[in-house]
Amino acid sequence: MTSPSAAKFGRSPADVDLSVAIGAIRLRNPILAASGTFGYGLEFAHLVDLTSLGGFVTKGLSLEPMEGAPPPRLCETSSGMLNAIGLQNVGVRAFVKEKLPALSKFDVPVLANVFGYCLEDYSQVIRVLEDAEGLAGYELNISCPNVKKGGLQFGGDPAMAAEVVRAARKAAANRPLWVKLSPLVADIGLMAKAVEAEGADALTVANTYPAMAVDYRTGRSRLGNLTGGLSGPAIKPITLRLVWEASKAVKIPVVGLGGIETAADVLDYVTVGAAAVQVGTASFADPQTSERLRSELREALFESKMFTINELRGKFPAEIG
Ligand SMILES: Cc1cc2nc3c(=O)[nH]c(=O)nc-3n(C[C@H](O)[C@H](O)[C@H](O)COP(=O)(O)O)c2cc1C
Repeated sequence: MTSPSAAKFGRSPADVDLSVAIGAIRLRNPILAASGTFGYGLEFAHLVDLTSLGGFVTKGLSLEPMEGAPPPRLCETSSGMLNAIGLQNVGVRAFVKEKLPALSKFDVPVLANVFGYCLEDYSQVIRVLEDAEGLAGYELNISCPNVKKGGLQFGGDPAMAAEVVRAARKAAANRPLWVKLSPLVADIGLMAKAVEAEGADALTVANTYPAMAVDYRTGRSRLGNLTGGLSGPAIKPITLRLVWEASKAVKIPVVGLGGIETAADVLDYVTVGAAAVQVGTASFADPQTSERLRSELREALFESKMFTINELRGKFPAEIG
């Protein structure tokens, strides 16, 4: 519904331009569906108009198919959710053959989320994708253990993160490369700079937080795995700071995500510097969240007398004073 203030401007929320550019990728609006929370997109096509999304990030893809972790894989926590999916996926070759042809018929930018357990895994997955048509770019998930370095996370150390981005950049000659950072770092600014220096086109901040939930009666984990990753509203204030810190540290665009449920959440991320956002856990409660957010964003910006989303970006000061 158009508010009384609309008459004042002679314009309406429909005039608000939500389009953003993340490097070479143009998005109709700044809301992407986050990796692992929207399958391969196709599963949601009967529930959601996929073309209403700014973009879509696939479930993480590995070189070989993976069965994932034992059930239960999800559990609710206060203001959040824990997951231990174990990166189950069909494998990159089956994705290219069985999912991508149908997915690429939808007029929406699709990014393939890529992960591995050594440098070569990342490069090989990207090489398979480079030969396929219908992708807008790649998102590298570096919150994975490097089995060749004693299981330390690629994303936990700037030197290791730089190494994996260098390898991926070499393989990804034809498409933009986004790098999704782990929130478990001492200095997100250092990490962001290390990744930018290796040629990343954008950063996605951030992944889930290692966490656990137990049942004292049984003395067992509430997940099939002992621990999982925390997402949802509980993490928003923590990740918001990471997005602010990362945005200050680099020139490339930062895509923020963590606990977004409302238009105000989206605008908070944009205020601290995000150029776009992703929605994950909220899609579990309502797969149409991103569609709803798109119209709520227009209303909220219009009410604040703004006609492009970029007017708000980075409004929050870099320093006190
Ligand atoms: C069930 C589930 C599966 C996920 N799988 C992936 C994945 O395969 N790759 C990845 O980079 N992130 C994955 N994530 C992390 C999300 O993309 C996102 O970073 C995180 O959930 C925080 O956003 P949210 O609070 O909006 O959910 C997954 C999250 C959930 C809840």
